[in-house]
Amino acid sequence: MSTLQVNKNEGMVAWKSPSNIALVKYWGKYAKQYPRNASVSFTLQDAYTETSIKYVRKPDNVEGVSMSFLFEGEKKIKFEEKIRKFLSSIIEYFPFLNDLHLDIESKNSFPHSTGIASSASSMSALALCLCDIEREFLNRLNDEVDFFQKASVIARLGSGSASRSVFPYLAEWGELITVDGSSNEFAIPVAERAHPIFHTYRDSILIISAAEKSVSSRAGHALMEGNPYAEQRYLQANIHVKQLLDAMQEGDVDTWGKIIEKEALTLHALMMASEPPFILLHPNTLIAIEKIQHFRIEKNLPIYFTLDAGPNIHVLYPDNIKKEIISFIDKELVPLCENQRVIHDLVGKGPEKIS
Ligand code: PMV
Repeated sequence: MSTLQVNKNEGMVAWKSPSNIALVKYWGKYAKQYPRNASVSFTLQDAYTETSIKYVRKPDNVEGVSMSFLFEGEKKIKFEEKIRKFLSSIIEYFPFLNDLHLDIESKNSFPHSTGIASSASSMSALALCLCDIEREFLNRLNDEVDFFQKASVIARLGSGSASRSVFPYLAEWGELITVDGSSNEFAIPVAERAHPIFHTYRDSILIISAAEKSVSSRAGHALMEGNPYAEQRYLQANIHVKQLLDAMQEGDVDTWGKIIEKEALTLHALMMASEPPFILLHPNTLIAIEKIQHFRIEKNLPIYFTLDAGPNIHVLYPDNIKKEIISFIDKELVPLCENQRVIHDLVGKGPEKIS
């Protein structure tokens, strides 16, 4: 058992970490959750997970991961097993997991099955808590850059897209010669490369359907392996990352918007072209897309949409046109949503430590 020089025998850490919405999509992976192409996302503000971990040094004779897990105050065996398996798989990154018992509690700010990626917020919150225990318990990771980089690596191992949630406003993940500092291991913060208009973006999420997804993202990534368009897609995504970041640097909202809509439709086209093919769009998704595109042309306003791997629509627009857009959403798009449900979120400052 441990011969570690430890700082503390018990303690508690807690983090609040947001979800994110991809602008250039990660779809296709290999080996230990490495992406087949680079991706970029907006970090959200109000859709987040809060996770706390109480840790205590455990008796020397208990081997392996020892933990309990409560989700929204209740025991959820399926989640607990998933987390236990995940923690066992990352012992090489956190050998202290052999020395501690963890009581983990987690809750989300947003409801289930809304198309908001709960794996991104939950895995990033968990990763941040683990890095914080390393900082407190072993007095390491005191450098901020190292801290968030390791949190991004661990989040990635839990859910690829979660790697991007640990940074404010805008993050890029995936090694590209066109993006300095980029890596397949972790995401990097790229907000300072973007025009300030993009720090004000809002994301109104139209809940077209709250039904459980028929295909998991794990299955979706796997299907890319046999997809006849895969290689071309990976090249296209990498080009899109460069074009998108350039447009964001220039504050070119229209070029940006064209790329993100193409990305959203390409993601679904890839699903429709896989074997077996699948359709996650709902008829109302298409009606809403048509309305958004017509409104944009008619009013000459930079309102664009993106989609995740589901039927719900993320409507993206800068804060300075919020009034016109919200009244358009209320009048034209809300009737297309299940139970008239829309979640208004915005681009946010990234994770926060909870004291
Ligand atoms: O992180 P995963 O394995 O759930 O994959 C997420 C994939 C998409 O949400 C469709 C796109 C993305 O880049 O977030």
